[in-house]
Amino acid sequence: MKILLCGKGGSGKSTIAALLAKNLQVEGYRVLVVDADESNFGLGVQLGLGDPVELMDQVGGKSAVKSRMGVSRGDGHKFPVFTETWRIDDIPLECLSKEGDLCLLQIGKIRHYSEGCACPMGVLSKDFICNLLLDSNDIAVIDTEAGVEHLGRDVAAGADLILGIIDPSYESIRLSEKISAMAEECNKPVLFIINKVEKTFADRLLAKIGKDRVIGIIPFSGLVQEKGFLGEPLDASSLDVSSVIEVICRIQRGQDFMHN
Ligand SMILES: Nc1ncnc2c1ncn2[C@@H]1O[C@H](COP(=O)(O)OP(=O)(O)OP(=O)(O)O)[C@@H](O)[C@H]1O
Ligand SMILES: [Mg+2]
Repeated sequence: MKILLCGKGGSGKSTIAALLAKNLQVEGYRVLVVDADESNFGLGVQLGLGDPVELMDQVGGKSAVKSRMGVSRGDGHKFPVFTETWRIDDIPLECLSKEGDLCLLQIGKIRHYSEGCACPMGVLSKDFICNLLLDSNDIAVIDTEAGVEHLGRDVAAGADLILGIIDPSYESIRLSEKISAMAEECNKPVLFIINKVEKTFADRLLAKIGKDRVIGIIPFSGLVQEKGFLGEPLDASSLDVSSVIEVICRIQRGQDFMHN
């Protein structure tokens, strides 16, 4: 299963991506974390993994991807970079930071002033996710940049599940509506996690978003905030994400598929 995390800036996408990855690893899965955020650098730190060679560099850089954008594969689909599917074992080793069955791949970061738009990153993300074949014991957790630009670029095309992260703010609630609508447009299931909430807010948020679509309510944690401040890695137990893990494992086993 390929899970695409999205949500408002600072809602906790990367934190939850790291925690889900670590907990799924504990459950015995091989987990590929895909860092598809072209701006932020924190995910490797949160996972306790170093930065691998960016996939963008591996495929020749932004200009190489740009020159192939729009090239058709021949069957009407546009897969400008990869012409074949590949598995985690096929990914060049230098493009993965690994610890046991936990792997991190970075699509590519914006590095220089005036270097141009991030479209090549979006194209590469979509292409990579679409062409990635997972074994039954593999799960891909894809962290994206803030907002819905990646959904506007069809980056969810190859994902099996969109997971929206919502913090207790008006903006986040509005964005969750947009994410739901876009998920429907691309015919993908969408579920939500409410993050950084006090109990009273959790009930109010649940009423707005709909209980059946929320698979986790995660409280604000001083410990996680401190680790975020110091740039320290998270442990699998830094926050209780067990309800989310339970749902993901059920879906992965094909037992239950909650569709929006
Ligand atoms: N449940 C939580 N309790 C306390 N702090 C949290 C919690 N979840 C996330 N944070 C903190 O909130 C900040 C933002 O989290 P994070 O970077 O995961 O958000 P994000 O959605 O990935 O942000 P961006 O959109 O910038 O990528 C971090 O400092 C993180 O440590
Ligand atoms: Mg992030």
